[in-house]
Amino acid sequence: MAVLEILTYPDERLKQESVPVADFDDDLRARVAALEETRLAGPGAVGIAAPQVGWFERVVIVDVSKLKKPVPNHGYLVLVNPEITAWEGFAVGREGCLSVPDFTGNVIRAEAIRLEARDPWGQALEFQMQGFEARAVQHEMDHLDGLLFLDRLVSRRNDLFRRKNHQ
Ligand code: NI
Repeated sequence: MAVLEILTYPDERLKQESVPVADFDDDLRARVAALEETRLAGPGAVGIAAPQVGWFERVVIVDVSKLKKPVPNHGYLVLVNPEITAWEGFAVGREGCLSVPDFTGNVIRAEAIRLEARDPWGQALEFQMQGFEARAVQHEMDHLDGLLFLDRLVSRRNDLFRRKNHQ
């Protein structure tokens, strides 16, 4: 296993739409393991999406369980072919991204979501999520549609912030 190279803005490949996973096989699970290793090698990333490493299938990993300030969460999640089936409320929050290493931004997201996905063995998953975990999932799923948080800023002038460090 190896830490994979992360595509960074403005790499055009980050705009590519990813396709659904068809085969829940050992190759998928090996790719997920490499994706997770890459996430953990990054600076405190709570999520990563397959297209960020040039793998254009609908797979994201989210884990907001290790934050200094605890938030409601479902632990370590590998979400294959995720679909949001319900949205509730709106909130503004600060986001960062391994593909946009030098900036953070304020983005409006649904406050709560209902989510359906598969795990890497093809088992159906369903979650009700809120707050930061719901935000992280929405952010990662955007990557599957070729979107970055930069595309969702209301105002680049007011909502984009240069990082002082990578935490
Ligand atoms: Ni991201």
